[in-house]
Order: sequence, then C-alpha cells, then structure tokens
Amino acid sequence: MNKIIYLLLFILINSSLMAEDGKKVFETYCWGCHHQTAVAFGPPFEEIAAKRNVEEIRAMITSPQEVSKILGYARNAMPAFQLSDENLTAITTYITSYKPVKVEENKTIIQNPYPNIAKIEEKK
Ligand code: HEC
Repeated sequence: MNKIIYLLLFILINSSLMAEDGKKVFETYCWGCHHQTAVAFGPPFEEIAAKRNVEEIRAMITSPQEVSKILGYARNAMPAFQLSDENLTAITTYITSYKPVKVEENKTIIQNPYPNIAKIEEKK
C-alpha cells in the first residue's frame, strides 16, 4: 500500500517538475519570440497547441528550416534549437498544455495561465 502512495507521489511531483522545466525552457529559449497566449514575432503557444501535434512541435524546434515549409510557412524565421531530450519533452508538454478545451461550437475554455480560473472566450 505504501509503495503505491510513494509511486503516486513520485508521479505527481515529477509531472509538476516537468511543467516547471517546460516553463524554464520557454523563458530561456522561446520567450523572445513566442508568448503563451498573445501573438509575438512567432505564433502564441495557444494557437500552436490548437493545431499541431507533439511530433510536429518537436520537429519544428529541432529543424525549423525544413519543417516550417511543411507547416505552411513560405519563409523560415525561427532558429533551430539543440535541446536535450528532457528539455524537448518538457517544452512540448508546456506548449500542449495551452490547448484550448472546446465547450460549445463557437466557444473555448482557456485554462492557462491560471488553471483554476478558466475563462470562456467567444471565437470570431
Ligand atoms: C528568433 C525568434 C524565435 C525564437 C527564439 C523561437 N521561435 Fe518558434 N517561431 C518563430 C517564428 C517567426 C515562427 C513562424 C514560422 C517561421 O517563420 O519559421 C515560429 C514557429 C514556431 C512553431 C510552429 C508554429 C506553427 O505554425 O505551428 C513552433 C512549434 C515553435 N515556433 C516553437 C518554438 C519553441 C519551442 C521555441 C523555444 C525553444 C521557439 N519557437 C523559439 C520565431 C522564433
């Protein structure tokens, strides 16, 4: 019984560390050009999370020259990043955590950046 509790605790702590790590990677490498919900030089994480899967996001980070074309960009303006596998997973998890949750046809719940205060946004 104790083992199970320890295991659950371990997973819980680990996944919150992962979110922390993702935020750190974001602040170190991406923040200059991407914001979580607002358009900066690059698209916001919220938009990326809504339309891309994990593989596409990982591929874009490591080889933007090739992948930006596949994603539909005429020109590539993002530099490539050599991140460790852990950092790649952490940043990808962080980005996908911004995926908007669908409620009704024309409305989405935005849970980030405040997980406890979800706001409902009307789509244009
Ligand atoms: C120098 C500015 C710059 C930095 C730094 C940067 N990006 Fe980008 N990013 C862009 C631009 C601009 C685009 C739009 C595509 C293009 O022009 O190549 C983009 C596109 C993307 C896309 C694909 C968008 C889509 O359409 O789905 C992802 C994913 C992405 N960036 C992730 C990251 C991550 C993660 C980091 C940090 C490790 C990062 N970027 C750092 C400028 C940047």
